[in-house]
Amino acid sequence: MTDHILTEIRDRVLHITFNRPEKKNALTHAMYAKMVDAMRAADEDDGVRAILFTGAGDVFTSGNDLADFRDTPPLGADAPVTQFLGCLLNAKKPLVMAVNGIGVGIGLTMLLHADIVYASENAVLQAPFVDLALVPEAASSLLLPRLVGHAKAAEIFMLGKRVSADEAYTMGLVSQVFKADELAAAAGKAALALAKKAPQSLQLTKKLMRGDREVVAARMAEEGKLFGERLTSPELMEAIMAFMQKREPNFG
Ligand code: COA
Repeated sequence: MTDHILTEIRDRVLHITFNRPEKKNALTHAMYAKMVDAMRAADEDDGVRAILFTGAGDVFTSGNDLADFRDTPPLGADAPVTQFLGCLLNAKKPLVMAVNGIGVGIGLTMLLHADIVYASENAVLQAPFVDLALVPEAASSLLLPRLVGHAKAAEIFMLGKRVSADEAYTMGLVSQVFKADELAAAAGKAALALAKKAPQSLQLTKKLMRGDREVVAARMAEEGKLFGERLTSPELMEAIMAFMQKREPNFG
């Protein structure tokens, strides 16, 4: 069976690759669970100094697997996605994201917990939670408006607006934009540079820059409760059936 999450520690960097290109790297429960194990181990391992995420093929990730949302909705604190969000929030090691194509849902919201975000010119970010009859997750209802302002965040969350790499750069969601064939090397170089820095200083700096952890954690929990309720709603069923049947949803 293909390994849908590739993990490798190289030069003190944990590389995590979403590897399900035939489904646009959509993330299943099993994929989240594997990332949780890898991230928890990395946080405890002094030999790992940075974590670098990217996607296989020309997609970052199309977000949560919609069939999982429909068939086995991730509910509660034990759900692998909830644990994964906790790992992002609590990560001690710096997180580098190489956004190599479209990033939908968590493909956008996870960037709000990253430290260095490099994107390829062809990257597109989208958070169509309302289109799916859901609500934002990963504390993004707090972090995105704080970063880009309410008006731009509302276009992204409420209208499901797609944001190009250049727009994301202008908004401050992305640190730098690269040509597609230069992204991996640039992200690798940044991760390697982080891995060579004084580790305690780096971890303390990250912690200071994320000073309001409790507030962010509380918003994540609040969103998680509402998200769970939405997952069992008739509106969500209609949104997902419409996606599967390649038609417009009809919310009545
Ligand atoms: N969950 C499950 N399957 C998904 C998926 C997802 N999030 N995203 C894509 N896929 C599947 C498609 O169903 C399709 O499967 P099939 O070949 O068996 O029909 C395959 O991946 C290719 O997707 P397709 O939609 O044909 O590719 P595209 O290039 O036209 O569009 C996207 C790419 C990412 C824009 C589009 O697939 C999309 O919008 N996906 C849903 C994103 C989403 O809503 N995620 C949840 C956010 S909370």
